[in-house]
Formats: sequence, C-alpha cells, structure tokens
Amino acid sequence: MSEASGAKVAIITGCSAGIGRAAAARFIEHGWAVHNVSRRPSGVEGVVDHAADLSDLDSVEEVAEALRGALPVGAVVSLVHNAAVMEDDAIDRIDRHAFERSMRLNVTAPALLTSLLLPAMGPGSSVLYIGSTLSEQAVAGRASYVTSKHAVVGLMRATCQDLFGRGIHTAVICPGFTDTEMVRPAYDASPEFRAFIAEKVSLGRLIGADEMAEVIYRAAVMPVFNGGVMHAHLGQRTT
Ligand SMILES: NC(=O)c1ccc[n+]([C@@H]2O[C@H](COP(=O)([O-])OP(=O)(O)OC[C@H]3O[C@@H](n4cnc5c(N)ncnc54)[C@H](OP(=O)(O)O)[C@@H]3O)[C@@H](O)[C@H]2O)c1
Repeated sequence: MSEASGAKVAIITGCSAGIGRAAAARFIEHGWAVHNVSRRPSGVEGVVDHAADLSDLDSVEEVAEALRGALPVGAVVSLVHNAAVMEDDAIDRIDRHAFERSMRLNVTAPALLTSLLLPAMGPGSSVLYIGSTLSEQAVAGRASYVTSKHAVVGLMRATCQDLFGRGIHTAVICPGFTDTEMVRPAYDASPEFRAFIAEKVSLGRLIGADEMAEVIYRAAVMPVFNGGVMHAHLGQRTT
C-alpha cells in the first residue's frame, strides 16, 4: 500500500461499457480516484484500467493484489461490483460451462474481490453490488442470470452481517431496463420489445446509464442505505 490517507477511491468492475462507464465518470466528477476492472479499457479520462477476465478467479486474485498495492493507507474505498453477464438459458437447456462461468463472474468474483480488498478499506468505505429487478423476481429464459442476481442479494446480506460495526456499508442496487449494450440491441431490433417497455415501465422508457450512475454514487456516500436492496426501475407493472 502507498503512503497517504483520506483518499477516496472507487474500484468499479465493468467500466468499459454501460452503467459501469457512467459510474466511473460520475465518481471522477466528484473528485474520486477510479480503478476499472474489465477486459476492455474504460475510455473515461482519469480512470486507471486493470485488464482482467473476472470469470477467471486466478485473475481476480492477481488484480486484487495490484489494487491493494495502489490503495493509499486508510482510503475510503467504494467497491462497486458491476460487471456481469446475462446468458440466454433456461432450466431445460442448461450449459454447465456457461452456467458456472456466469456464477463465477456474477457472484464468486464479487465475493472473492471483496474479501481480498477489505483489509485495505478504511471506515466510510462501501461494498456495492449491482443486482437487477431479477434479483427478486424471475422471468423465463434467463436461468443463470436470475439465479446469480438472487445470490447477490444473499451475498450483500452476509456482507452486512460480517462487517457489522466496522464502519463499512453495503447495499444491492437493482436497475430496471437501462440503456446499455445489454439492452439496446434488442430495443433497436425489436418493435415488440419497445412495445413491452412502453407497457411494462410506468415512465415508458429505458433508464439512462447516467441515472443509474447517480444512484450508485449516492449509495456510496450515504451509509444509511446499509443492508438495503434498492430498486431503481422507473416503476414496473407487476400485474
Ligand atoms: N442494462 C440493464 O437493463 C440492466 C438491468 C438490470 C441489471 N443490470 C446490471 O447492471 C450491471 C451493468 O450492466 P450493463 O447493462 O451496463 O452491462 P454492459 O453494458 O453489458 O457492460 C457489462 C460490463 O461488464 C464487463 N464484463 C463482462 N464480462 C466480464 C468479464 N468476464 N470480466 C470482466 N468484466 C466483464 C464488460 O467489460 P468487458 O467486456 O470489457 O470485459 C462491461 O464493462 C450488470 O451487473 C447488470 O446485470 C443491467
């Protein structure tokens, strides 16, 4: 660890696109140092990129070591587990390799990275997990994603209990349909999907990645959210 304290450092996985990239820009605007972990670079000025495939747990350990070396002593760290994959699978067509890779990236990597970085995280730090509306409900055809996003809620609740009294807060942020690479191709290609959004979402539109970035930033600086599962979906029809 380098010498300094009082520094604010965001470590965000998956800043090369979508919500992660917008979150990186938001933390930079607020004067935080930002480290990205993804396979591609973030492209956001000022962000330090660490190239890693987070579905490979050896790579997670290596990147954790590099990050620990870069963290000033006593830094306030916001660790944002944002990178994820959404497979097209279902309980009657499970590919064991894809399912395991999904669980490694969406669940095991966040758990391992948190465990390895906690010793370097000072009071005021946060561990933020990006879930989904599918953290608390299911749809057909997304078996590994639904399973992993539910698991993230359990992981956050365990984090909250294990860090009790240590001055580090945690939360799951559950985005609704957000305008990123994960959703935009289907939105552009499919009139049915656009009609579905118009009918399903009270405000009738996709969420901007910038809107989600603001939610993530607020969760980082507001410990009152500790232990919370925070939905941000513009209001979705449930009936
Ligand atoms: N968009 C939505 O509507 C929506 C809704 C609910 C929840 N979410 C959640 O929000 C988060 C961000 O989603 P998004 O829509 O912004 O996704 P996105 O645009 O598809 O971006 C995914 C990010 O994850 C990184 N990533 C994927 N696989 C990786 C791997 N093996 N190793 C390292 N990084 C990897 C990608 O970086 P590289 O490809 O460069 O590695 C990329 O930066 C995810 O947790 C997602 O489940 C999104």
